[in-house]
Amino acid sequence: MAIGAAVTFLCRTKIDPREPPPIHSTIPFFGHIIGVLREGPLYIARISAKSNAPIFTMPMLGGKSYVCRDPQFAALIQRASSTLDFDGIVADMTPRLVGSDRRTRQMLKNNTAWMKRSHEVINPPLGQQRMGAITAIQLRQFSEFVNQVQDGQEVDLFRFITTKVTASTMRAFYGPRNPFAVDPSLIGAFWDWESDIVAYMTGILPSIFAQKARNGLERCVEGFDKYAKVDGYKDAYYLLQNRKALHEEIGISRHEHARLELGICLAFNPNASTIAFWILNNICSRPELLAEIREEIEKNAIIAPGTISFPKLRDACPLLNSVYKETMRTTAPMTSARLVREDTVIADTYLLRKGAFVQIAGSLLHEDASIWGPDVSSFNPRRFQHFSNGSKTDINGNVSSAKADQIHASAFRGFGGGASLCPGRHIAQMEIISLTAAIVSAFDLVAPEGKHVVAWDPPRNVKKFIIAAVKPLELLKVRFKKREGTENVQWILQA
Ligand code: HEM
Repeated sequence: MAIGAAVTFLCRTKIDPREPPPIHSTIPFFGHIIGVLREGPLYIARISAKSNAPIFTMPMLGGKSYVCRDPQFAALIQRASSTLDFDGIVADMTPRLVGSDRRTRQMLKNNTAWMKRSHEVINPPLGQQRMGAITAIQLRQFSEFVNQVQDGQEVDLFRFITTKVTASTMRAFYGPRNPFAVDPSLIGAFWDWESDIVAYMTGILPSIFAQKARNGLERCVEGFDKYAKVDGYKDAYYLLQNRKALHEEIGISRHEHARLELGICLAFNPNASTIAFWILNNICSRPELLAEIREEIEKNAIIAPGTISFPKLRDACPLLNSVYKETMRTTAPMTSARLVREDTVIADTYLLRKGAFVQIAGSLLHEDASIWGPDVSSFNPRRFQHFSNGSKTDINGNVSSAKADQIHASAFRGFGGGASLCPGRHIAQMEIISLTAAIVSAFDLVAPEGKHVVAWDPPRNVKKFIIAAVKPLELLKVRFKKREGTENVQWILQA
């Protein structure tokens, strides 16, 4: 017993008293890793209850990770970007995600010039003022999609929405000859890769432990390679043309560029389409909310029979936008990671040691009753109605409109924050609220033939480590039924 205790003590990672307080695992060295592998994000939530500190230390594998669960500290971590680095993590992770060869990995590793130029190429064309071309194509395609759904069509809602949104997004960004249009089975291959991407990324015998992901990835890479061969980029959004030119300039081969292309598709596709699924689930499963949302859209965003204005959805439909944000709060508790490049003191309080990782834990911030109010675990459609950052609820779940109850901007982690704030957030909002508005205006989602009710709110895959919004664990079968009086309407989503 005494020897065990001594070994445990000696194996402990050394923690300076100025560092955030440690939460030790009972099994030294590997304990936290085992917990995380077994329970996923739930493990961090469980052990976080052992400390009240705004940041705590998880010692593991001889190193350590700091976990932040406080909005003020999150903001300070984001601000300290000169020593708490995000780009290095991206440059290290991206090649792992897409299976780059050793040469490409080396080229990108710590290549700060590449990262800086990548941001310059990627971020501005996704901005609110510059996204007009993408908006026009997406809205035209979503309109066609909604008009083509058959009255009475039965689908698994998750697969249906994610497939359509993926196809549409690829068309918008890569043009009509995009690999997923040439071979639509690549949509399934893409999602095979995405759904097991964390296992694939570890690099531990992917042909055994992540076979489906690997096969899916390789098929997509092949598709992008062919797309480049036939000069499909001629029709691509200029962001992608410029990114290809940048990769050519620094000596990345066509095949390796095809791999990196999957990295950006990972940003464009899974989150927006998964959230589109959850928002439909959240609205259509609540008849009163559905009626209110329809009324709001009808009053404020339908500008001619069957014509829905996206700017009006964005600017004049506060309930729809609140439901969108609340859907993200409850299904996209994203974690932002930073690598500590130099010892850094946060808020004159905590020392963060060079070489450690800091995580701003969306799963803790989004579930904290002291931030959001006592109904934090419930879906509250009005939580973001008064302020874009949300406001705290009272004991009865009422959402306060008092400025004092406005929630700290860094508490909502759906789009990350600071240096890693999602540059695609305006496009995501455009896609999700527009598609949602068109579907709820055109259809009732009812039980499939032979069933009495829709099995709304499928269980979620909360144990799985994700890099995108949480997925449903079961099918959600619904029947699209045209709403009475709208049978002959041709829907138009207008930019
Ligand atoms: C609701 C949908 C979306 C969610 C929840 C989301 C979330 C995020 C988050 C959390 C990050 C930061 C990653 C990190 O800190 O590690 C991020 C980055 C990024 N997102 Fe999104 N995103 C969404 C949609 C989109 C869309 C539609 C696009 C493009 C059209 C996009 C483009 C990007 C890009 C390019 C980055 C990388 C930024 C960088 O490396 O600096 N995202 N996104």
